[in-house]
Amino acid sequence: MRALVLDYSLSKLAEREVMAPPDPLEHEVRFRVLEAGICGTDRALSRFDIGYPPHGESTLVLGHEALGQVEQAGSASGFTAGDCVVPMVRRPCPEPCPRCARGRWDLCATGQYTERGIMGAHGYFADVAVDDARYLIRVPAAIRGVAVLVEPMSVVEKAIGAALRAHEEEPRTAIVIGCGPIGLLAALALKARNLNVIVTSLEEETNPRAAVARQAGLEYTRQSPPPADLVFEATGAPEAGFQAVRLLAPCGVAVILGAMNGAGTFPFRDLILGNRKVIGAVNAPRQSFEDAIRDLQRMDRRVLSSFIERRPRGEVFASLSANPPQAVKLVHVLDA
Ligand code: BGC
Repeated sequence: MRALVLDYSLSKLAEREVMAPPDPLEHEVRFRVLEAGICGTDRALSRFDIGYPPHGESTLVLGHEALGQVEQAGSASGFTAGDCVVPMVRRPCPEPCPRCARGRWDLCATGQYTERGIMGAHGYFADVAVDDARYLIRVPAAIRGVAVLVEPMSVVEKAIGAALRAHEEEPRTAIVIGCGPIGLLAALALKARNLNVIVTSLEEETNPRAAVARQAGLEYTRQSPPPADLVFEATGAPEAGFQAVRLLAPCGVAVILGAMNGAGTFPFRDLILGNRKVIGAVNAPRQSFEDAIRDLQRMDRRVLSSFIERRPRGEVFASLSANPPQAVKLVHVLDA
């Protein structure tokens, strides 16, 4: 089958013929990959900044935001041919540690976990994939057109849950820094929870992402907004991480989702005297995928669709080098 692979021995990204996965066992499912989304992680992978191939191999199949359709379901899998599925990304550590053992591999403390399409396990930018049914989420046919957003939305759901739990009062205001897919999905999800949300980012007012944010009914500004109860950093830039902390109201919670390490002034004293909290969040458990589906179902379909630009499979090389792209979410159609 064809797959998009990172070749670590040649430091090269290529579309190649690879071995198709074996037939599914009784608790497994084989699905055709219909679509794969591209995110900042894929761009970092394609620059060989992060990630690694499975043990003993020199190539990694890319792709971790996928939508599939079941072709063959093992008798004990609970799935049926034709079901739409979204795979979870992370797989538990081999032992497994207590958190992995209770299904919270998103919290794995050993670091021995793998992530499909990112760290030590092949991803989904390929014709078909096989997974254990416990890593698959069934998607209602009604949201098929936006279901490729379920994985990034699951990350947002986990982050919002963590922020709400960490905030000791009832938060009313939120700032989202960044208007990429994670930022805009977070802003929509916060708005759906009746928070007053401001999106701030560097994009010019005329940038299509800023326009999409406004069309989604979100307040967008390039200026620094007033402090808020919850602040989400969704840019990847360390400056935005420091900005998130500076924008915290007393008792506020900042969630860092993408910022790389960077040097700057960290206001420890303001944290202490204002009971402010800074937390990080990565990946997502099954519950967050279920929450993502519930939220996507109740959101305006036209708004969600306006986030997505679909492209043919072969254009993925251009998508990975566009940094950042104009579209909120680039999605490649694999089964055309
Ligand atoms: C994915 C997460 C993953 C993280 C770190 C993100 O792009 O959405 O599932 O845990 O990268 O590898």
